[in-house]
Amino acid sequence: MKTLKKTSPKKLSIATRSIHGDNLGAFTGPVATPVYQTSTYRFSDSRDAVRYAKGDPSVYVYTRYHNPTTTEVEKKIALLYGAESSALFSSGMAAITTAVLSFCKQGSEIVSTPALYGGTYRFFRDTLPEFGINVRYVGSDSLDDLPYMVTNRTRLVYLESPTNPTLGLVDVRNLVARTRRLEKEFGRKIVIMMDNTFATILNQDPFALGVDIVVESSTKYLSGHADIMGGVLVGSRALIKKARDRAKHFGGCADPFASYLLDRSLKTFELRVVRQRENALKLARALEKHPKITRVLYPGLTSHPQHALAKKQMKGYGAMVTAEVRGGVKAAVKVCDSLRVAVNAMSLGGVETLVSIPVYSSHINMDAGELARHGVTAGMIRISVGVEGIDDLVADFRQALKKA
Ligand SMILES: Cc1ncc(COP(=O)(O)O)c(C=O)c1O
Repeated sequence: MKTLKKTSPKKLSIATRSIHGDNLGAFTGPVATPVYQTSTYRFSDSRDAVRYAKGDPSVYVYTRYHNPTTTEVEKKIALLYGAESSALFSSGMAAITTAVLSFCKQGSEIVSTPALYGGTYRFFRDTLPEFGINVRYVGSDSLDDLPYMVTNRTRLVYLESPTNPTLGLVDVRNLVARTRRLEKEFGRKIVIMMDNTFATILNQDPFALGVDIVVESSTKYLSGHADIMGGVLVGSRALIKKARDRAKHFGGCADPFASYLLDRSLKTFELRVVRQRENALKLARALEKHPKITRVLYPGLTSHPQHALAKKQMKGYGAMVTAEVRGGVKAAVKVCDSLRVAVNAMSLGGVETLVSIPVYSSHINMDAGELARHGVTAGMIRISVGVEGIDDLVADFRQALKKA
């Protein structure tokens, strides 16, 4: 038995950390985190403003900078990742854009793996060049090319694994080791940033793989009920401070009530994600056998081309499954429109199973070349598996596939 008195919260299970944070043992106060629904704070005297400016963390001045409800959740998420610090944002994209524009400036270069969430990809493609920041792509199957991509202008290596929507994996340890060698060669630090939204800390620990900073859209698994928007950065105190300073200007701060809902949802984080991944494996296996399905992409299937890598670098395989229907987009539409339990809606990570067609959603307006580069085909249906009864889900997909 653990003697909890002496146990550091970091040593407790993720389930326990996501409920209690570091509030262990005797402490008085509310069990649920109070919502500080305020934009500003009373000073005890005028010198509080000076105390804040000198870095006193006990002085709150303005909710765009910080808020006690949000701070509580930030502490908890840093603890879940075993990291020094974390910062919450109004959305995943606010976290991503703020971080990228904190670590890069005009003339900087980014090296990224190409299969990215559509919003991130479009930010890299359409917005960053207007700010003089160039992005180069290194295929996850051609990491040998990294030395040709990294230059003395490279400030950031960016990756997502598993990728959206093809559930491909990047060999993270390999990418990190190669980047560190190039860092030495160029004599400068390159920040390695990873989007861990699909896996979450329950299924994958990017810091154990050597990554510097993690982003998650907390709209997804962390909150898990399709009712809030949010984003989170996790990493060292120094990197998070850099992003936090930028965030004060960009203004994408978390709303206190959204922070409260996120904290409430974190209490069932482990329960939800464990059930979701169990359902995902069962659904993936059932779909794989179906005659109208040509391919099922799920890292937990032995048929997944990178299953061995998934076993090595992931703690669980997550709950995102992509199935390719025979008959292209017409058949995919028929299936999605015939489902009765699973919901035809964008987004992912909630307790309800959601489906979407990548060529109609995350990858719309991409030309054939871009789609091919992302490995996206017209008949793909992306499934975010929820916590419903698995027999109901399997039966639902079977009846919808019958109509395709
Ligand atoms: C992998 C991934 N990263 C980032 C985002 C952006 O998050 P948000 O929609 O909260 O801005 C999404 C949204 O779908 C996503 O799927």
